[in-house]
Amino acid sequence: MKQRLLFLGPPGAGKGTQAQRLAASHHLLHLSTGDLLRAEVQAATPLGQEAEAVMARGELVTDALVLAIVRHRLEGHQGGWLLDGFPRNLPQAIALDGLLGELGQSIELVVLMELEAPVLLQRLLARGRADDNEAVIRHRLDVYQEQTAPLIAHYQAQGLLQSVEASGTVEEIAARISTLLE
Ligand code: AP5
Repeated sequence: MKQRLLFLGPPGAGKGTQAQRLAASHHLLHLSTGDLLRAEVQAATPLGQEAEAVMARGELVTDALVLAIVRHRLEGHQGGWLLDGFPRNLPQAIALDGLLGELGQSIELVVLMELEAPVLLQRLLARGRADDNEAVIRHRLDVYQEQTAPLIAHYQAQGLLQSVEASGTVEEIAARISTLLE
C-alpha cells in the first residue's frame, strides 16, 4: 500500500476529514499545517502570534514558517505520512521535493479532492471555524485558485496525481480514496 501521500483540494473539500481517518486506520503520520498553525495560535507562541492575523484573513502564512514546521515533523519520523494542506504553492512544493530528497524519500500519490464551490461554501459555513465566514471563505477559494491549483499540473507532470469526486458521504469518499492506495 502507498504510504507517502499528499491531499490536495480546495477549502472544505474534506481533506482533513479523510486524512484523519486514513492516517488512523493505516498508522500514518497526519501532518496538517492548518492544524499545527492553529495549535500555535492557541498556545500564543511567537509563531502563532505571527500566523493568527494572516489566517484570519484567509491568506497564506510565509513559506519559511510552514517549511520549518514540516521539516521539524518529517525529520526523524520513520514510516508513512500524509500531508494535508501542504504544499500550498509552487515554492513550497519545490522545497518539499528538496527536503524529501535530503531524507531519501518520495511522494507516492497525490489525491486531488474535487468539489464545486457552492458545496464547499455550504460545508464551511456550517462548520463555523474562526476563518469560516463567507467573505474569508471566498478569499480562501481565490487564494486556492491562484496559488494552490497550479500544483495540479506540477504533480500531473510527475505522474503522481489522481482525482477523487469529493461529494457524497464521508464513507463513500473514503472508499474512492482507498481504491487508489493499492
Ligand atoms: P487549513 O486548515 O489547511 O484549511 P483549508 O485548506 O482551508 O481546509 P479546510 O480545513 O477548510 O477544509 P478541508 O478540505 O480540510 O475539509 P474538512 O475535512 O476540514 O488552512 C487554514 C489556514 O492556515 C490557511 O488559510 C492559511 O492561512 C494557513 N495555512 C495552512 N497551511 C498552510 C500552508 N501550507 N502555507 C501557508 N499557509 C497555510 O471539512 C470541512 C467541513 O466539511 C467540516 O465541517 C467537515 O465535517 C465537513 N465535511 C467533510 N466531509 C464531508 C462530507 N463528505 N459531507 C458533508 N460534510 C463534510
